[in-house]
Amino acid sequence: MTSPRALWVLLLMAVAAGALAAPVKPRQAAIASAHVLATEAGFEVLGKGGNAFDAAVAVAATLAVVEPQSSGIGGGGLFLLQRASDGHEVMVDARETAPAAVDMRDYLGADGKPDRARSINGPLSAGIPGEPAGLVWIAQRYGKLPLKVSLAPAIRIARNGFKPDGRFLKEVAMRKEVIARYPASAALYLVNGEAPKPGWTFRTPDLARVLERIAEQGNAGFYQGDLARTLVEGVRAAGGNWTLADLERYEAKERAPIAFDYRGWRIVTASPPSSGGVALAEMLNVLGGYELDRLDKVHRTHLMVEAMRRAYRDRAEYLGDPDFVPMPIARLTSADYAAGLRAGIHPDKATPSELLPPYLAGEQGSHTSHFSIIDRDGNLAAGTQTVNLIFGSGLVVAGTGFVLNDEMDDFALVAGKPNAFGLLGNERNAPRPGSRPLSSMSPTFVIGPDRIGVIGTPGGSRIITMVLEGILAFIDGQPPAQLVANARFHHQYLPDVITAEKGAFSAAETKALEAMGHQVHESDRRWGFMNVVSWDRRSGKLQAAADPRGESGSGVVR
Ligand code: GLY
Repeated sequence: MTSPRALWVLLLMAVAAGALAAPVKPRQAAIASAHVLATEAGFEVLGKGGNAFDAAVAVAATLAVVEPQSSGIGGGGLFLLQRASDGHEVMVDARETAPAAVDMRDYLGADGKPDRARSINGPLSAGIPGEPAGLVWIAQRYGKLPLKVSLAPAIRIARNGFKPDGRFLKEVAMRKEVIARYPASAALYLVNGEAPKPGWTFRTPDLARVLERIAEQGNAGFYQGDLARTLVEGVRAAGGNWTLADLERYEAKERAPIAFDYRGWRIVTASPPSSGGVALAEMLNVLGGYELDRLDKVHRTHLMVEAMRRAYRDRAEYLGDPDFVPMPIARLTSADYAAGLRAGIHPDKATPSELLPPYLAGEQGSHTSHFSIIDRDGNLAAGTQTVNLIFGSGLVVAGTGFVLNDEMDDFALVAGKPNAFGLLGNERNAPRPGSRPLSSMSPTFVIGPDRIGVIGTPGGSRIITMVLEGILAFIDGQPPAQLVANARFHHQYLPDVITAEKGAFSAAETKALEAMGHQVHESDRRWGFMNVVSWDRRSGKLQAAADPRGESGSGVVR
């Protein structure tokens, strides 16, 4: 017979086992975004009973209002979600599409040479926006609240106005010449033809009405009816080729994220049409074969650069829109492929990019915005959204209140010629009617046995290497506030140079890298606004950090 003491022990063991099996939840929520008002919008919606996905809609829409130079309703985005109740993971693809009438000759000058001005400015540079459909998709399939609630903060701020920060005003000044070409753009962002001065209040009631239409009618409020007609007429009057059918046909898509293991950590990240996940898998699979933490900084950097070089070469050769082109993703992300790449890496010598198999060719100041969210139930959301370069195409159609993207430049418009980020591509990333341009946006979850990080950043072609450095720093145990502040370095195959922020390397480290055959260029600019949240399941501690290069105070735990 069992003694009373043994029964007690059994009871205690059962209670302990139950406690261990119970799902662990954070006691608070964490949001990091590029703007305090967007972060607050996320908490407002959480306070109304929303989950991380409702908060993602609120943050994304508010960024569209308060940071229109980086992302917005006229642009697109990629949103990575993980639902705590069943572990469901998905990437919502709200990337822009090429209009049906896309014609690569439109991007050549009279001399037949690529004319970058046409792919980064004005109506021909704008793809069909995906952001509205992405927000509707997330709210309707994953949120708990109606769009009227999750879009309310953005609508209120658009109507009542806010005082933009110095970065906004500086970036208006940077794009003033293009903004001034279009009367509705100038009326929205300029004051008497000039960039506004500090203290100016920015109101966009037209955008408030657009958001209200989306809140009331979902996709139909944007992609059909009066607003669609206004957009098509405005784009065509400015010299573009959109049709009503382009807008009506647009749909957000759900895609399986790229997920892989790195030394016991599960990395979940963006799949095509982003190149980010494939490149991250390739780089981390290569690096997983080394004991990085036992190496000095110079050798660690050398190996990271060699991994970057190879992944960016493959990006140029193999990647495009998964709905239009076949891609060898399983091979590129396999351990065997990484082992092959590793075999070609000299431990102490740079591989000149020109010695890698040539890929078949058939400026920074980018803008984009990333936010990261963990809610009290442990749901995760990471969104990277963009209008491409600062203020996108510069074109606002009268009556809409938002700028259209210039995402067409992310296509390989001319095979073998670099885009605005110096990135190369070939036929796989050529524009086709309705196809999505290849992106670098890389919203990412880093999932360890005890710690979870939600990571992402803007930064054009540098997004992927910044996220790589962020993942490794997180795994090394760096807190979010430190890893978002770290000085960064980048290599993208061609040009064959390591670009580094000031402080990334000491003079001696730069010299040692150069002795290995690397060319190091110290940039006088800072890049990327990385926003990270993390959750330590052991202590229950949540952390949120916004990049000090951007607005401080927009990483909040509450
Ligand atoms: N427009 C930048 C990117 O999607 O990579």
